[in-house]
Amino acid sequence: MSSKLLIIGACGQIGTELTTKLREIHGTDNVIASDINTRNLDLVNSGPFEIIDAKNFNAIKDCCINHKIDTIYLMAALLSATGEKYPMEAWDLNMNSLFHVLNLAKTGVIKKIFWPSSIAVFGPTTPKTQTPQHTICEPTTVYGITKQVGERWCEYYHEKYGVDVRSIRYPGIISHKAMPGGGTTDYAVEIYHEALKHKSYTCFLSENTSLPMMFMDDAIKATTELMAAPSNHLTIRSSYNLSAISFTPQDIYESIKAHIPEFTITYQPDFRQAIADSWPSSIDDSVARNDWNWQHDFDLDAMTHEMLTNLRNK
Ligand SMILES: NC(=O)c1ccc[n+]([C@@H]2O[C@H](COP(=O)([O-])OP(=O)(O)OC[C@H]3O[C@@H](n4cnc5c(N)ncnc54)[C@H](O)[C@@H]3O)[C@@H](O)[C@H]2O)c1
Repeated sequence: MSSKLLIIGACGQIGTELTTKLREIHGTDNVIASDINTRNLDLVNSGPFEIIDAKNFNAIKDCCINHKIDTIYLMAALLSATGEKYPMEAWDLNMNSLFHVLNLAKTGVIKKIFWPSSIAVFGPTTPKTQTPQHTICEPTTVYGITKQVGERWCEYYHEKYGVDVRSIRYPGIISHKAMPGGGTTDYAVEIYHEALKHKSYTCFLSENTSLPMMFMDDAIKATTELMAAPSNHLTIRSSYNLSAISFTPQDIYESIKAHIPEFTITYQPDFRQAIADSWPSSIDDSVARNDWNWQHDFDLDAMTHEMLTNLRNK
């Protein structure tokens, strides 16, 4: 029998492209997309779609029973920058939605969960370069706190109740389809749009702020590969470190300038600088590479080429 999947928060930056890929793999009718609203009409019209509030346990449960769902991808969350503006809302959504899906797996309604964590679990006391899988995690953002606590609960549910939950600490994700939803690495998407539209960009991080980043295709590849990996190969049930490229705003500016020579950049760091300063600049993901053969495909220049080509064609 083929697997039936529910994606919660499917209209967001990652959910949009994850839904497309999962429908390629599992068949359109086997992948139910859901979100709290229908803003992303392309996604809503691309296959089965339901409005579901990730905070509503019964709504998720009913959908799982009605569609015989065995796997949930929980993508709904309030991200780092938005979470600092609405701390209690971030805590409420990020934690309760996770408990809902963990409890559905614990009670046998579903079999498997993907839940993304983030490099935001790290903090100023974490080693900044080649941050190890197991290290000090003292996050200073509400978002980071929810992800760190979420990781602990995932591991707990796996150890105590045998729940098959899998997770990745995504770095900043860069993509050209849906716009990012209020994170600290959003500049690395905005910069491509502004380079093409206005030939200039004002960056909210300083020029030498190096952060771990990844092109969307690599993030989707990692997600589907982790979910397909044999359970007994996985040694991490909190969340896997995952890495592709690290760059600064100045690096990405120069990569774009090679294609658009008249492009200019200025720097006006805002409150997001303090968040970025608390995060690592590069990540050691050797455990993911060993356990499920993770490898990235895109470096900075390959990503710039893809971003500019696709945005020009829009
Ligand atoms: N994008 C990144 O760079 C990045 C990096 C690290 C981790 N992550 C994680 O990946 C996941 C997806 O991130 P994203 O960038 O796609 O986020 P996003 O903000 O672009 O999308 C989140 C989606 O969730 C939906 N949503 C919000 N509240 C909801 C609710 N109550 N019920 C149902 N849906 C609701 C939103 O409408 C939106 O479509 C999140 O858990 C995020 O923390 C993302």
